[in-house]
Amino acid sequence: MKVVVLIGSPRKGGNTDCLADAFTEGAVEAGAQVEKIYLDDHLIRPIAEVGDDGKTRVDLRADDDWRKIMQKVIDAQVLVLGAPVYWQGVPAQMKCFVDRWSAHYATDWLLDGLADKVWAVLCPYGDPTDDQSRWVVEPVKVWVGHFKGSYAGHVGVATSKKGEVAQMKEIMQQARDLGRSAVEAAQR
Ligand SMILES: Cc1cc2nc3c(=O)[nH]c(=O)nc-3n(C[C@H](O)[C@H](O)[C@H](O)COP(=O)(O)O)c2cc1C
Repeated sequence: MKVVVLIGSPRKGGNTDCLADAFTEGAVEAGAQVEKIYLDDHLIRPIAEVGDDGKTRVDLRADDDWRKIMQKVIDAQVLVLGAPVYWQGVPAQMKCFVDRWSAHYATDWLLDGLADKVWAVLCPYGDPTDDQSRWVVEPVKVWVGHFKGSYAGHVGVATSKKGEVAQMKEIMQQARDLGRSAVEAAQR
C-alpha cells in the first residue's frame, strides 16, 4: 500500500509539512509506505497550449519533472494533497502540477492511472475568522469525482506562523487519524 503526499507549500518545516508528518505517522501505523514530495523541489512548468481534441493532445513541456512525479502518484493507492490556501486557491506549485493533467486529458494512462484512488487534503490557512480550507477542499472534491476516486477527508486549520501547527495537539491528532483512516479505506 503506497501513499504519496504532494506538498504544495514551498515552506519546508511549515504547517503543511507538519500536518503531512502527522498524517504519515497514522498511515505508517496502518501499514502503508509513504513518500512525501515537495513540488517546489521540482521543475513543473505551467501547461503549454493544448489542442482542441483531447485525444490527440501533446504535452509540449514533457521534458520537465512532471511525468516522473505523476508516475509515483499513479503507483500509489492514496493521494494526499497538502496545500495551504494561497489567495483563495492552491499554491501555484500545485496548480501547475494539476493543470498538466489536461495535456493527457483523454489518455488511458491518465484516466486509468488516477482512477479509484483514496484522496485526502491537508490545508492550513491564515485567516482565523473564516474557514478558508474550502478554497482547496471544494476543487479537490471535484477532481476526486472526475477521476472516480473516494474522498477520505481533510484537516483544515487556521494557523500562519511557520510550523506552529505542530503545537496544536488536537489538530495533529486529526491528521494522524486521517492518515490511518485513509489507508484503511484504500485497503477495503
Ligand atoms: C502567497 C500567500 C497567499 C496566502 N493566501 C491566503 C489566503 O487567501 N487565505 C488565508 O486564509 N491564508 C492565506 N495565506 C496564509 C497561509 O495559508 C498560511 O500561512 C499557512 O499556514 C501556510 O502554510 P505553510 O506553513 O505550509 O506554508 C497565504 C500565504 C501566502 C504566503
